[in-house]
Amino acid sequence: MPGGIELKSKDEIARMRDASLIVYEVLETLKAAALPGVTLLDLDALAESETRRRGATCAFLGYRGYKHALCISPNEVVVHGIPTRRTLVNGDIVSLDYGVVKDGWYGDSATTIPVGTISAAAKALVDATRVSLEHAIARMVPGNRVSDIGAAVEDYVVPRGYSVVRDFVGHGIGKKLHEEPQVPNYGPGGQGARLRAGMVLAVEPMVNLGVPDVEVLDDGWTVLTADRKLSAHFEHTIAITDNGPMVLTRP
Ligand code: MF3
Ligand code: CO
Repeated sequence: MPGGIELKSKDEIARMRDASLIVYEVLETLKAAALPGVTLLDLDALAESETRRRGATCAFLGYRGYKHALCISPNEVVVHGIPTRRTLVNGDIVSLDYGVVKDGWYGDSATTIPVGTISAAAKALVDATRVSLEHAIARMVPGNRVSDIGAAVEDYVVPRGYSVVRDFVGHGIGKKLHEEPQVPNYGPGGQGARLRAGMVLAVEPMVNLGVPDVEVLDDGWTVLTADRKLSAHFEHTIAITDNGPMVLTRP
């Protein structure tokens, strides 16, 4: 366990792949269902039923007392939004963050989707956040260091005028949802543990249109931007292999 970071065998990564592909399929189903008028609780119920019929369980349900399957974070909600009877409205951007457990192994992924027609500013934020995760993934090769991942996010989004949330980070993942190491979405690079084949990390940039600061509501979960401007969030579960990064949460 280099630096307390558990290494997974090829066989274990294959099992995480199974869990992660269920996460992918459920998120695809949710994306298709996320139309104006649908409630956040409708999406939560859909995530749960789509997971159960695939023989998996919802990773977030019951985690630290969380009462839902899915985190749904519209607009100024950064992460950990709780499903409510609020309906999706044309122009919303909504982060859907989902995880499952299958045969004891976890997969975790998030995407930010448009509801109906969104503003050009919202679309640019979402696109930049998505692309920043791809840049981060490209750095996930043996020999690089953990902070090279976040440096790639920061180097992509900050010159475009956005800010990176610093109070929440990505994480190792495996037989637990959260394992070592923490994976910040900012640099400088060249710090932290050296990346090795067999590490599996959930990398999840949260990028704000305005200030990087966030607030947590009294519900103990909902994270909002301090200035109430928009935030976007993408996440993949990624295995580091000798052949480079393998994104487990997409085909
Ligand atoms: N993707 C988030 C994370 O990795 C979701 C956790 S929500 C919780 O932390 F409900 F499970 F806490
Ligand atoms: Co996560």
